[in-house]
Amino acid sequence: MSPLACSVLVTGSNRGIGLELVRQLVENTDPPEHVFATCRNPDGPGGKALHELAQKHPNIHVVQLEVEDQSSVKAAASVVESQLKGKGLNLLINNAGVNSFATLETVEQQEMLSALNTNVVGPILVVKEFLPLLKRAATETATDRMSCSKAAIINISSKLGSIELGFELVKLPMYPYRVSKAALNMVTACMAEELKKDGILCSVINPGWVKTDMGTEQAPLTVQCSVQGILKVLANLSSSGAFLNWEGNSLPW
Ligand SMILES: NC(=O)c1ccc[n+]([C@@H]2O[C@H](COP(=O)([O-])OP(=O)(O)OC[C@H]3O[C@@H](n4cnc5c(N)ncnc54)[C@H](OP(=O)(O)O)[C@@H]3O)[C@@H](O)[C@H]2O)c1
Repeated sequence: MSPLACSVLVTGSNRGIGLELVRQLVENTDPPEHVFATCRNPDGPGGKALHELAQKHPNIHVVQLEVEDQSSVKAAASVVESQLKGKGLNLLINNAGVNSFATLETVEQQEMLSALNTNVVGPILVVKEFLPLLKRAATETATDRMSCSKAAIINISSKLGSIELGFELVKLPMYPYRVSKAALNMVTACMAEELKKDGILCSVINPGWVKTDMGTEQAPLTVQCSVQGILKVLANLSSSGAFLNWEGNSLPW
């Protein structure tokens, strides 16, 4: 089996879905040569599990990256570029995100802005700074077929960001979260169209409702099961502009 991609970067990889993505990538029988496991505070207590994993797998590079801070994103891109030694970055997974349950009655301006900053502005800044490395990766593969092994941006969104499904899910208004994920879906659609000419695939994955700090213990899905599904979907993905769940089924925008 060939690796999903030679190089992969994951944001928010110190816990939850991001940490499990890194774990399953490196524990694969044919792992990527480089896994850039980024998080905003790698040296704090929240970075312990990631450092323990990185000690066992030399292909993990732990890199500081705060998605809301452009200078941090720029510095991370420069670290990654030097590690890649002239090669491109194949797969960028924008996973970092925050939740917010505010309703129309309780929502405050700052809570809206904060969710938008992390969940929408952050991924845009990350793509902007890593785009030269993704473009480089796209030119390194002879085939025109789009894939995660060539060059791809995967944004981890939510079905709560689907406008169409929104009409069925009115019991969970969650304005900051749902608006930010709907916006992230639009960001992905725009990028898919714009980056088609460069051979870079851009799609959205909904991980399901997963037992993490965000998903809580009430969630039906383990993080291992969700991530196994996500990685299987990514390995078979060849269409840009898709909105898929962790089992590979299409979701309505
Ligand atoms: N769990 C679910 O049921 C579910 C469902 C649908 C979609 N999702 C999406 O899946 C993704 C991962 O969720 P999760 O369940 O793994 O959440 P989680 O356990 O709460 O982890 C969130 C991750 O994002 C990081 N993060 C937050 N703000 C950041 C920032 N400004 N810069 C860099 N990193 C930041 C956190 O870092 P710190 O440790 O430093 O805070 C943490 O690593 C999110 O985009 C989420 O919206 C989750």
